[in-house]
Amino acid sequence: MSVLKGKRVLLGVSGGIAAYKAVELLRLLTKEDAVVDVIMTPTATHFVGPETFRALSGRPVLIDLFDRAGGEGGSTVVIPHLEPAEAADLAIVAPATANTLAKMALGIADNALVTTLLSVTAPVLAAPAMDSDMWLHPATQANVELLRQRGVHFVGPGTGQLARRNVGPGRMAEPEEIVAKARRILQGRSQSQLLAGRRIVVTAGGTREPLDPVRFISNRSSGKMGFALAQAALDLGAEVDLIAAPTALAPPRGCRCVEVETALQMRREVLERLDASDAVIMAAAVADWRAEEVPEHKVKKGDADRWTITLVKNPDIAAEVGARKKSGQVLVAFAAETERLREHATEKLKKKRADLVVANDVSRTEIGFGADENQVTLFYADGRIEELPQMRKEELALELMQRVGRLLAQGGGA
Ligand code: CTP
Repeated sequence: MSVLKGKRVLLGVSGGIAAYKAVELLRLLTKEDAVVDVIMTPTATHFVGPETFRALSGRPVLIDLFDRAGGEGGSTVVIPHLEPAEAADLAIVAPATANTLAKMALGIADNALVTTLLSVTAPVLAAPAMDSDMWLHPATQANVELLRQRGVHFVGPGTGQLARRNVGPGRMAEPEEIVAKARRILQGRSQSQLLAGRRIVVTAGGTREPLDPVRFISNRSSGKMGFALAQAALDLGAEVDLIAAPTALAPPRGCRCVEVETALQMRREVLERLDASDAVIMAAAVADWRAEEVPEHKVKKGDADRWTITLVKNPDIAAEVGARKKSGQVLVAFAAETERLREHATEKLKKKRADLVVANDVSRTEIGFGADENQVTLFYADGRIEELPQMRKEELALELMQRVGRLLAQGGGA
């Protein structure tokens, strides 16, 4: 049975060529037995007539906040948007034009759609559609970033043929893709208490190993994956301890965040919390090496043309957690590989006694370090291997935390 069955979906259609695709989207949603309230911006009516949406949804279509109940001469209903806004399990804005996204970002309420969206507490999914220049404009990008930070989900835009016959990013995601994303969001919601009562430790970022008081060695980890995992664990109801090596990111609201610099500091913070935790998610890129000696004062270059540093191995935090964890506790480790993914990941699974190794190929630049998307293969302690499709790190984080939830529900790791 589809997760959309019986769900109230608010479909906002703003004015762009892609509005015709919203008709197919509506058809797919109703095919899965969702109850859809369509709200159009006045501009959208220039592209598709409201009658089409009315006929397909079997419900009134809202365009004007002062629509009259009972037709002309009927009583004026001044707040007809509140019922669909309150009842919505999900709001989809497709197409979401640059103008509508900008209004959403600023909280402007000058038409029925954006006014309604201000009252929506359900998740919002936007499918942007515009020409490439508008999509790539810093104003649009800043608005999208702001909306993302506020929890708005996005699908697309894809790259392809656009209205002005130019090719580039801005093409609205296909209706099937939008429905698939809507299902995933609702599935995530229906499991919103999957980790309730669980305490999860998440590590994130790349540790910094000092060479002297001003210099350090580190790595290219942005911390995005770890922070997204902390957020996903919170979304699923867990109590979260985020042990973060330096990143440029703000910690998700609601988690306890401890900032650390070095692998040794991270180790101490993780091990301190181990006994009280249900799961440890080692998303941090822990430096494998640190300088054997760290001088108290800055190393001056003087006349030297060489500086030899001896590095010593850092303790493997994940392996220590694996060795100490009790039955029922779950350990997730990450493997960033550039070759022989399966072989290396399986080796890590054993060496660290992890319950799950999340492996990705960091030689691919569009995924992995610093990127917004990732594509991973999961290696489970029981021998199962699961390949996940490429997706945004926030979405992947939710998929991973749902699996952690399931492992815990099955009695945790070995
Ligand atoms: N890890 C750790 N402590 C370390 C190093 C890594 O806990 N000192 C954790 C990371 O957080 C990650 C996993 O172990 O979850 C990565 O495994 P690791 O063996 O370090 O992989 P690589 O650094 O990729 O090592 P190599 O390339 O040598 O296989």
